Amino acid sequence: MRYERRGEVPRKRHTVLRDEDGLLLTEEVMGFEGFSGNESILYHLHSPCRVTEVGEFTPIAREEWVPEAHVHHLLDARGVEAEGDPVTGRRLLMWNDDVEIAICRPVEEQDPFFRNGEGDEVVFVHEGRGHLETTFGPLPYEAHDYIVIPRGTIYRFRPDGSEQLHLAFHTPGEIETPTRYRNRYGQLLEHAPYSHRDFHPPATLVTHRERGEYDLVVRVRGGRQHFKLDYHPLDVVAWDGYVYPYTFSIDDFEPVSGRIHMPPPVHQTFQGPNFVICSFCPRKLDWDPRAIPIPYAHSNLQSEEMIYYVGGSFGSRRGVHAGTITLHPSGLPHAPQPGLAEQSLGKTETDELAVMCDTFRPLRLSTLARELDDGEYALSWSRDPAPAAAGSNDRLSA
Ligand SMILES: [Fe+2]
Repeated sequence: MRYERRGEVPRKRHTVLRDEDGLLLTEEVMGFEGFSGNESILYHLHSPCRVTEVGEFTPIAREEWVPEAHVHHLLDARGVEAEGDPVTGRRLLMWNDDVEIAICRPVEEQDPFFRNGEGDEVVFVHEGRGHLETTFGPLPYEAHDYIVIPRGTIYRFRPDGSEQLHLAFHTPGEIETPTRYRNRYGQLLEHAPYSHRDFHPPATLVTHRERGEYDLVVRVRGGRQHFKLDYHPLDVVAWDGYVYPYTFSIDDFEPVSGRIHMPPPVHQTFQGPNFVICSFCPRKLDWDPRAIPIPYAHSNLQSEEMIYYVGGSFGSRRGVHAGTITLHPSGLPHAPQPGLAEQSLGKTETDELAVMCDTFRPLRLSTLARELDDGEYALSWSRDPAPAAAGSNDRLSA
């Protein structure tokens, strides 16, 4: 990330800053890796430690489904039941010690403020728009945005009334742009599929001075700790640094094509510990006259591959539509289904839009995944080739 500042900070760190009423503001350093990683400094009207009531601690229950067989899976998340708010309504699909992947179709307003105290979050907005109220200022979002929220950020979703459908990632590690896209100073390189101009932190800062009773829920130690505050928690008067939430639209990802097939790493968007998040975007396809523009069969010997389909058509997978998910676990090869390589010859472009998460360690499945699993997908490679559909455009690049 780059240095950002909102509001007026003092000329030197750790020196006096008063608001217009003469109040000495409380400085908070919010940083990673002790005092060695990226940090921001925030100036509060109140001590960020101030709570008036300690409420209950609610463990987050994970209900695991251990399938009887080790096979590929196709999940249909389109009909997932709406429940909860944009945080409590996140329904876990799969997880390991590095990342959790959840689907969220919220039905309630988010009343309590939320702070993730044990992980960074990426929320891909499939449907909906609105803004987040955050410690760092309001953050507008719309469909196709990735919302990246570093741990420690207090926030509250404020949808604009539109239907919301989110794919939410949580990691105990850090969400970063891939190291190979950055120079030694941290600036994104010319060959990166995006530039700093595509990342949008809060443009303004709104300081709340209201007093009253406010609920704050902090995710920590595998549960949710509830607190009550007697002041509005978004009381920051100024901040600066490298840590803040931001949005990045998948539509701003600049896809890479090649004369022959390019592998999934060209689609990488974010990195976390032992996992990557990739964006498959509309693009021109391989232009060598002998190129096969859809992927070869591949064995992901050390990774699991989850793809969430967002839009476009997906002719290389039967039964795959926007809102469905494939999971190709490690230990098994996978490939486009029979006949589709032949059909793809001569195709010049794809309009696919998908979000992929590859993890290097096995993913566990939730009981929700069992509800959404079609149960037939593992046998789909043994069926007769699909008939060529007029106008179909074979894709699925992973
Ligand atoms: Fe793949």
